[in-house]
Amino acid sequence: MHVLKTCAACTMGLGILFVTVFVLSDAALLKRQAYFNRTAYLPCPFTKAQNRSQSELVIFWQDQKKLVLYEHYLGKEKLDNVDDKYRGRTSFDGDNWTLRLHNVQIKDTGSYDCFIQEKTSKGSVILQQTDTELSVTANFSEPEIESVPNITRNSGINLTCWSKQGYPKPIKMYFWITNSTNEHDEDMQISQDNVTELFSISVSLSMPFPDDVFNVTALCVLETASAKIVSRPYYIVLPEPQTDQKENSSWILGAVAIVLIAVFLGWLLLLLVKKCLRKQEQPGIS
Ligand SMILES: *[C@@H]1O[C@H](CO)[C@@H](O)[C@H](O)[C@H]1NC(C)=O
Ligand SMILES: *[C@@H]1O[C@H](CO)[C@@H](O)[C@H](O)[C@H]1NC(C)=O
Ligand SMILES: *[C@@H]1O[C@H](CO)[C@@H](O)[C@H](O)[C@H]1NC(C)=O
Ligand SMILES: *[C@@H]1O[C@H](CO)[C@@H](O)[C@H](O)[C@H]1NC(C)=O
Ligand SMILES: *[C@@H]1O[C@H](CO)[C@@H](O)[C@H](O)[C@H]1NC(C)=O
Ligand SMILES: *[C@@H]1O[C@H](CO)[C@@H](O)[C@H](O)[C@H]1NC(C)=O
Ligand SMILES: *[C@@H]1O[C@H](CO)[C@@H](O)[C@H](O)[C@H]1NC(C)=O
Ligand SMILES: *[C@@H]1O[C@H](CO)[C@@H](O)[C@H](O)[C@H]1NC(C)=O
Repeated sequence: MHVLKTCAACTMGLGILFVTVFVLSDAALLKRQAYFNRTAYLPCPFTKAQNRSQSELVIFWQDQKKLVLYEHYLGKEKLDNVDDKYRGRTSFDGDNWTLRLHNVQIKDTGSYDCFIQEKTSKGSVILQQTDTELSVTANFSEPEIESVPNITRNSGINLTCWSKQGYPKPIKMYFWITNSTNEHDEDMQISQDNVTELFSISVSLSMPFPDDVFNVTALCVLETASAKIVSRPYYIVLPEPQTDQKENSSWILGAVAIVLIAVFLGWLLLLLVKKCLRKQEQPGIS
């Protein structure tokens, strides 16, 4: 696509004014995604005249406020025009014609222009301009469930789930409890760090322990625009029923033993009594 452009963007910091010329340039629009605190890649693919050497060209990147991120001036890095905001945060990959922006922040979201310029005796001509839309995201931490210690049937269930440092803003977070068909999303709280702009989210659940069961499983689900993240299952087991059952079974075992012993002793007694009776009877007969 050939677009006729005025080179108004050629006014760079520190009052350096390039000769304003009309240029015929390829304007390409790219989309790139980067993770918070990682590196963003801002490409400047030079499709025209591949035989051109970087030492004959001026390659520079500007943000949407026209602040210069990096300038490669006739084959060398030139810092004069680079804005303080970007000093020490960039590196140029000469093989790929790509600028690396390190330690990306949420605030870096926006559009960036790369210009490839040729210096001629008549002035500067922009050979190519590439516009990159950069979006920055951060993965939320895996949701984690915490519980007050020692849940009993009387204390009920009291759980909190949280997930930290994600972007963009999450949609919601909720609990799934086994054999309950409802989503539990009471007391959901979303907060934003005013420095990093990252979001954190938490949700709490407080409910009576279900009747007739001795264990429940809880799951916590975080819903964002792009994904559903599920926590590891959290198992809650009541301590009482198992000890009750043990006591019951040992009691039954004891009772059975006592009955068996009693039956055996009774049978022995019966045998003895019969023997005695027989001995008493014998002399009478003879
Ligand atoms: C950014 O990354 C560095 C190392 O990779 C780490 O030490 C630092 O804690 C991270 N910062 C944030 C805010 O996540
Ligand atoms: C690059 O190649 C084009 C033709 O493809 C030619 O017109 C131009 O002069 C060459 N430039 C250089 C610097 O060699
Ligand atoms: C840049 O080029 C090198 C090889 O020259 C390649 O290994 C690397 O993956 C490229 N990086 C990007 C971001 O395209
Ligand atoms: C973020 O999450 C996606 C999807 O789960 C994964 O592919 C990607 O590697 C994660 N990125 C980071 C930086 O953790
Ligand atoms: C929870 O139970 C453990 C023993 O099982 C006990 O040491 C601890 O004090 C209990 N904590 C609370 C808050 O009751
Ligand atoms: C749940 O536990 C938290 C402390 O972890 C406590 O502040 C809150 O009052 C408890 N909620 C109920 C309903 O017991
Ligand atoms: C809960 O669901 C499981 C399997 O879906 C079932 O075996 C169990 O009997 C159910 N418990 C109650 C109390 O409904
Ligand atoms: C962030 O917010 C807290 C509390 O609202 C405030 O005390 C702190 O000064 C703020 N920090 C910045 C950098 O704005």
